[in-house]
Amino acid sequence: MKIIMLGAPGAGKGTQAKMIAEKYQIPHVSTGDIFRANIKGQTPLGMEAKKYMDEGKLVPDELTVKILLDRVAQDDCKNGYVLDGFPRTIPQAEVLTEALDKMGDKIDYAIDVAVPDENIVNRMSGRRACVTCGATYHIVHIPPKVENICDKCGSELILRDDDKPETVLNRLKIYHEQTQPLIDYYTGKGVLKTVDGTKDMNDVFADIVGILG
Ligand code: AP5
Ligand code: MG
Repeated sequence: MKIIMLGAPGAGKGTQAKMIAEKYQIPHVSTGDIFRANIKGQTPLGMEAKKYMDEGKLVPDELTVKILLDRVAQDDCKNGYVLDGFPRTIPQAEVLTEALDKMGDKIDYAIDVAVPDENIVNRMSGRRACVTCGATYHIVHIPPKVENICDKCGSELILRDDDKPETVLNRLKIYHEQTQPLIDYYTGKGVLKTVDGTKDMNDVFADIVGILG
């Protein structure tokens, strides 16, 4: 099963993608997580990506597409994957469609996690992420058992650099300009499904399972 998660920054793509990956035993592939791991490791890719991410801009397609295609060509992606944060532009979607076409393959579901802009800034300022395993929490909605400590691995939780309110507003603007057109793109391919992302995260997941079967 090949799944794409669509939705605004902070809609809950990562939260739901992790749950999908676990239930359906497919890898969770997040371009944002790949970039953040490279920033942490101070690789050349990480240093380049950081310039864009810190301002809430998109990393150029040339960099992003190669990384994603290399990742999904790996063995563990043979039986499918859930993409979180890719594609984010029409050119990225076209490259993915072409690459899959060549293998006689296609995306099965593009799931749009719909959340109005008003809810987003609040979610982002409350988000905390684990520096080690990437698990995410929300200080009010999904708090860790011990303040600022990851339930899963015991590491420290941090606020992401790009979650400052002014950066979030820029990410939202870019989302509407460059990423939202993908909703029409995947509607045209007959694979778009929309879920109400304002519900509790377990209810959102139940709706997604209802779609995926
Ligand atoms: P990326 O990491 O993909 O960030 P994003 O799309 O902005 O999305 P987020 O990760 O912020 O939100 P999410 O939808 O995953 O929400 P989450 O589940 O965490 O990308 C970061 C940057 O990398 C981009 O800005 C860009 O620069 C670059 N980049 C990445 N991919 C790229 C690409 N393809 N091309 C170019 N550049 C790229 O949830 C958010 C919060 O809400 C959490 O605190 C969570 O606990 C909470 N929450 C989740 N669900 C619920 C719920 N149902 N109710 C209440 N709270 C909830
Ligand atoms: Mg995410």
